[in-house]
Amino acid sequence: MSQIRAAITGVGGYLPEYILTNEEISKMVDTTDEWIMSHIGVKERHILKDPEKATSDMAVEAVKNLFAKTNTRPDEVDMLLWCGVTPDMAFPSTANIISDKVGVTNAFGYDINAGCSSFLYALVTASKFVESGSHKKVVVVGADKMSTIVDYTDRSTCPIFGDGAGAVLLEPSTNQTGIIDSMMKVDGAGRKHLFQAAGGSLLPPSFNTILKKQHYIYQEGQPVFKAAVSKMSDTTVAMMQKHNLTAENLAWFVPHQANMRIIEACARRMNFPVEKTMVNIRRYGNTTAATLPLCLWDYEKQLRPGDNLLLATFGAGFTWGAVYLQWAYNGEKIGHDLPNT
Ligand SMILES: CC(C)(COP(=O)(O)OP(=O)(O)OC[C@H]1O[C@@H](n2cnc3c(N)ncnc32)[C@H](O)[C@@H]1OP(=O)(O)O)[C@@H](O)C(=O)NCCC(=O)NCCS
Repeated sequence: MSQIRAAITGVGGYLPEYILTNEEISKMVDTTDEWIMSHIGVKERHILKDPEKATSDMAVEAVKNLFAKTNTRPDEVDMLLWCGVTPDMAFPSTANIISDKVGVTNAFGYDINAGCSSFLYALVTASKFVESGSHKKVVVVGADKMSTIVDYTDRSTCPIFGDGAGAVLLEPSTNQTGIIDSMMKVDGAGRKHLFQAAGGSLLPPSFNTILKKQHYIYQEGQPVFKAAVSKMSDTTVAMMQKHNLTAENLAWFVPHQANMRIIEACARRMNFPVEKTMVNIRRYGNTTAATLPLCLWDYEKQLRPGDNLLLATFGAGFTWGAVYLQWAYNGEKIGHDLPNT
C-alpha cells in the first residue's frame, strides 16, 4: 500500500478592514515611514478595531473562506486546531470556540501556542493524525489579534505586528504530494528575550501588572533578530541538503514574516532567489500564527501540483523549524488577485 501523506488541499484567509499605516504610527510614536521600511519592511498592517471581536472571529472568517473554496461541510471535519498567542480567553480553548461558531460538531480539537512558530507546530501535529489514517479532514487555523498585546507607545515593537487569520485543510494523499519532512526545534533558554509577562499563573492580572505594562509584548530586538536568522537558515539549509533541494528544484521558500531583513538574510544563506520567496510583510506586518497560511493564501494562484515548497518559521520560546512539502493542487482558478502595491 502506498504511504499516506498529509496534503494541504485548500487555503482560506481573512484580514480585518482597518489599515494602520506608517503615517498613522508616526503620529503615535517617534518614528518615520522611512525607518520602518528600512529596518522592518512593513508599510501597513490590518487591525481588528471592533472591541467586541476577538481572535476567534477572524479565524471563523478564514475557516468559512476555506470551507467555501474547498466545498467542505463543517460536519465532515474531524479535527480542528487553532494556533497562536492571543486566545480569546484562557479556557475553553479557542479551537472549541471556533468549532462552535463554524458548526464543526463531529470533531475534536485544541490549541497550540509556539509563539510565531505556532502554525508550523500545528501543521506538523495535524499531519501526524492524517498520516496515521485516523483523521481525514483536518483544519489548522492560525489567527492572532496582536493589537491586543502591542504597546502603541513602544516604537520598537508597535510597527511590527498586525492582525489576521489564515487556515488550511489537510487531507490524506497517496500520490506523493503533501508533507514530506519536518524539522521542528525548541530552546527555552531564548524565552527571556521575547515574552508577555503577565496574565498567567506566574503573574496574574493585577493593578501592578497593568501599571508596569506587563500585559504587552516584551522584546529585545537584536538577540531575537540574530537567533531568527541563524536558527531559521540553519534548519532550511539542513532540510535542503537532506533532500537535495536547490534554487532550481525548489519552487517556493515560505518564511515567517517578521522582518524583511530576516527574510532576505535567510534567502541569501540558502543561496535562494528572493523572487521565489513568498513575501507579504509589507501589507500585513507580522501576524504571528497567521503569516504562513496568509502567504499560501496570497500566492495560491501561482501554485501548481508537484511544486516543492519549503516553509520556515521562528518565534518566541525560542521555537523554530522547517517543513518540506509537495503542493497538491492547481491554485490558478481558486487563488485571489493581489492589489498592485
Ligand atoms: C525590532 C527591530 C526592528 C529593531 O531594529 P534594530 O535595527 O535592531 O534596532 P535597535 O533595537 O538596535 O535600535 C536602534 C535604534 O533605533 C531606535 N528605534 C527602534 N525602533 C524605532 C522606530 N520604530 N523608529 C525609529 N527608531 C527606532 C532605537 O531606539 C535605537 O535608538 P538608539 O540607538 O538611540 O538607542 C529588530 O531588532 C528586529 O526586527 N528584531 C527581530 C524582531 C522579530 O523578528 N520579532 C518577531 C520574532 S517572531
